[in-house]
Amino acid sequence: MLSEATRQKIDALIRKYPHPRSALIPALWLAQQEAGYLCPEAIRDVAEIFKLPTNEVYEVASFYTMLYKKPVGKYVIQVCTNISCLLCNCEEIMAHLENRLGIGPGETTSDKRFTLMETECLASCGTAPVAQINEDYYESLTPEKLDRILDSMK
Ligand code: FES
Repeated sequence: MLSEATRQKIDALIRKYPHPRSALIPALWLAQQEAGYLCPEAIRDVAEIFKLPTNEVYEVASFYTMLYKKPVGKYVIQVCTNISCLLCNCEEIMAHLENRLGIGPGETTSDKRFTLMETECLASCGTAPVAQINEDYYESLTPEKLDRILDSMK
């Protein structure tokens, strides 16, 4: 499943660390970049490379919200629903997204453009409410600001 190029990148990562297992999370990230999400075949290949049981690799992947265990849309919107964001109306942000996209947390729009998720603290509490869309942060969100952001995503 994983290409030779990805396997070589993972091998290079492993050589950076005294303990190969330290490279497991970035290796999963690379596998996800190639496969789009951590499908069973990608997990299996990573497990083989690290000589670990598949379920152990899956357990690691399952802990991190940025490692996707099912297919996601082009844009993955992760809305922080932790305490600071909760105090700054993240519920309004979530409700606005659910209404606009017609999906709930953990779901993907039928055109595969957007996946919506709730997430724990994104460590940007001072600019709550916060969402991460793919690898970028969007802070001090309002429904209007969010509309402008989504409108710009083609
Ligand atoms: S609680 Fe939302 S960023 Fe920390």
